[in-house]
Amino acid sequence: MFNQGLKEEGVRMERRELPDMNLFDAIISRRSHRGQFQDTKIRPEDLDQLLDAARWAPSPFNVQPWELLIIREIEGKIALADLTEECVADQFKNTKFLDDNHRWMRLTEEEWEETRDGVLLADHVNLPKIMSKDPTALRPLMKNAKHLGILGHLGAGKMPAKEIANLVRTSPLLILVLMDTDRRPPGEGAARWMWIGMGAMIQNLLLAATALHIGTQFVSAPLERQKDRQRVSNIFDLPASVEIICLIRLGYIDTVGGKSVRLGRSAFTHFEEYNPEDITRS
Ligand SMILES: Cc1cc2nc3c(=O)[nH]c(=O)nc-3n(C[C@H](O)[C@H](O)[C@H](O)COP(=O)(O)O)c2cc1C
Repeated sequence: MFNQGLKEEGVRMERRELPDMNLFDAIISRRSHRGQFQDTKIRPEDLDQLLDAARWAPSPFNVQPWELLIIREIEGKIALADLTEECVADQFKNTKFLDDNHRWMRLTEEEWEETRDGVLLADHVNLPKIMSKDPTALRPLMKNAKHLGILGHLGAGKMPAKEIANLVRTSPLLILVLMDTDRRPPGEGAARWMWIGMGAMIQNLLLAATALHIGTQFVSAPLERQKDRQRVSNIFDLPASVEIICLIRLGYIDTVGGKSVRLGRSAFTHFEEYNPEDITRS
């Protein structure tokens, strides 16, 4: 398979050497890249291709409600990194957020493979050495958001917050995805259809990035709360009609792909009629 070939060669590939990646390879090997990227600027021709992939997405009535704020300079990156640091540290103090997290946080790869959903804790925070050997020791703490929240107030979130902020600050490129709410299609479902168009555009962007060996990661922490989105809006002087949708960090990566899990087809598919018993997820 495509990834395997690249891994075996183990070399950093130049753009022109990239083997063609078919659509299914891109879909299956796209991953959220939570580590550092290569310290290389995104080439203008690659950025053009990302933007072309984005603009050919479907949208209701072809309204194309998207706007992309491309952030290459350090000032914008620092502003977003600082906000990310503050917001991640706050998340570690928020018992509701921690409680909700617990449902989807998998402590070991075995657990992750078994449930086939959620995220692996070690992909999100660098665990201290003693804990990384046996992350299940964290289970009682994870179950008790109140205690975890107290740790957050004592500063437990500071390190992960700094690490994520550093990733944001050092990313070759950030894209702040925006929606122009003035470009509404007709109909009562307008807002819903616009959001779907935004999702399609974002996925086009992510798949095109994968084909170009550009890793991507959503960074949601600084956009979680309305008050923080307002701060981002102020930082970039956005008009009130523009809604902030998401923030994506991008940069070249050595190897495409990586581990993730998904539920099987039968876990979400109904044929002809809806029957809850069709669904076979664990
Ligand atoms: C709307 C949205 C927001 C997300 N926010 C984050 C985020 O803040 N940080 C992060 O590391 N991944 C984020 N993700 C990535 C998901 O965690 C990831 O897609 C999922 O765990 C599956 O892993 P994969 O993308 O590597 O296949 C987000 C994904 C989506 C679609």
